[in-house]
Amino acid sequence: VEVSNFIRTMPKAELHVHLEGTLEGDLLLVMAERNKIDLPFDDADGIRRMQNETKTGLTNNLVNFLRCLDICREAMRTAQDYYDTAMAFVRKSAGENVVYLEVTFDVQQAIRQGVALSECIEALSRARREAKRDHGIDVQLIACFQRDHPVENAMETLMALDPHREEIVGIGLDNYETPGFPELFAPVMSAARDRGYRLTSHCDVNQPDSLTHIRECVDLLGVERIDHGLNTAQDAALVEKIVSQRIALTGCPTFHVSMTSAPSDRVEMIKTLFHAGALISLNTDDPAQFGSGYLSHTLAACQAAAGFGDDEMIRFMRNAFESAWIDDRTRSEYL
Ligand code: ADE
Ligand code: ZN
Repeated sequence: VEVSNFIRTMPKAELHVHLEGTLEGDLLLVMAERNKIDLPFDDADGIRRMQNETKTGLTNNLVNFLRCLDICREAMRTAQDYYDTAMAFVRKSAGENVVYLEVTFDVQQAIRQGVALSECIEALSRARREAKRDHGIDVQLIACFQRDHPVENAMETLMALDPHREEIVGIGLDNYETPGFPELFAPVMSAARDRGYRLTSHCDVNQPDSLTHIRECVDLLGVERIDHGLNTAQDAALVEKIVSQRIALTGCPTFHVSMTSAPSDRVEMIKTLFHAGALISLNTDDPAQFGSGYLSHTLAACQAAAGFGDDEMIRFMRNAFESAWIDDRTRSEYL
């Protein structure tokens, strides 16, 4: 799709984007080389081929997508890798007038891959400061715990984050959507709330227990946002609950499909939620994994597929600023 001048120049916010999913092929190949990692491809075409193959597998899209993402993000082995990835994304975002970013990273993954937690946070904090200083972009960090890893490890990692509390605005849950994860992770999220973190959780699109998971994330975990959560649209009572409790949804219209299109079932769910008055925003999730577009392309693809007008795109963007984890004074400067 064409990105209109209106979309390109509108001041934008993004609340749901994984640092590891912004790692583009050129940087990935450099990183793999310097870290002596063997990738199953040796050029950007090979990466794209692998990514396309995951879209046609037999298991569900999330599982295929994450296998593919894992191959790429496993090349991130040093704090410098985290810094370089963050700065490349900041520069891309600056180029399309993004003014506010909440960037998620998988903190356990960094530790597993040998990056010392304090060095990782220091690298990302430096990227935050430079984003502000050189590009005027406010960046906040969300540390995500992976639902397919032991809950004990999430709890330990939460404690290890204590010295870095001021650098992290919120805690999320992501990766494979394991059955019953909200109940399992309730103690971790409760401990995170006690520490003053804002809370979110992924409930990916069209998962086996999507509706139960969304309800439980609100009721058992007390999250303020759901990442994705689009299946809410299939249950009128849940729509009513999300709207009345002002739970924000960070929709990703192009997730795991080409940046130039948004699948129609997802677009229909976004329309239903938007018109019901839900606090739903539009985000990229993992832009480097899907093709050659970032937030502007995602907005344009959704606008084209749904037939939204520019005034409706403004409302989506207002929803993003409304659900951003900033104080009301800062919010009023954006709105
Ligand atoms: N990691 C990166 N993107 C993700 C998604 N959409 N769901 C779960 N984990 C992810
Ligand atoms: Zn995500």
